[in-house]
Amino acid sequence: MRYKNLTLVGPMGAGKSTIGRLLAKELQLSFKDSDREIEERTGASIPLIFDLEGEEGFRVREEQAIGDLLQESGLILATGGGAILKPENRKIMASRSIVIYLHTSVEHQLERTARDKSRPLLQTENPRKVLEDLLEIREPLYREIADIIIETDTRPPRLVVQEIIAQLAAIA
Ligand code: S3P
Repeated sequence: MRYKNLTLVGPMGAGKSTIGRLLAKELQLSFKDSDREIEERTGASIPLIFDLEGEEGFRVREEQAIGDLLQESGLILATGGGAILKPENRKIMASRSIVIYLHTSVEHQLERTARDKSRPLLQTENPRKVLEDLLEIREPLYREIADIIIETDTRPPRLVVQEIIAQLAAIA
């Protein structure tokens, strides 16, 4: 394989973890999720980290986790929806991996995150507005960094994985 790692980016509820796990199985690579890595390192849940340290504290931990994980090779890395915000993260993703943007609609994001209490940014009266506002800021960054863009709304995870593998074969 020419590439060192694959990084999955995209908003909350795009299916990064589900698709990352399936893709890792299919390509026989190891799978990591930056949020789970942060939770393992700190022994605290993402909501607790947001409570204690705010989003800023969380972003520092996220940068450390992504920086460390991408030193490895042969890894599929699912990142949190805001991981592309820091230029340092974008830089290391671009230099150490092929970046795959899982594109999804706000409608699907809402469906997939509706009953989820583990996402602090969505514990609000109007999650739709939050998701729309976040997307406006982040969408250009997802697109800027992506080597491959995959639409996830119209097909089940298994077919998304097949599409990723086909696109990888075309560029790698
Ligand atoms: C966040 C997304 C979450 C998690 C944190 C912040 C964001 O990850 O990193 O709650 O800023 O969009 P998922 O995209 O896996 O939900």
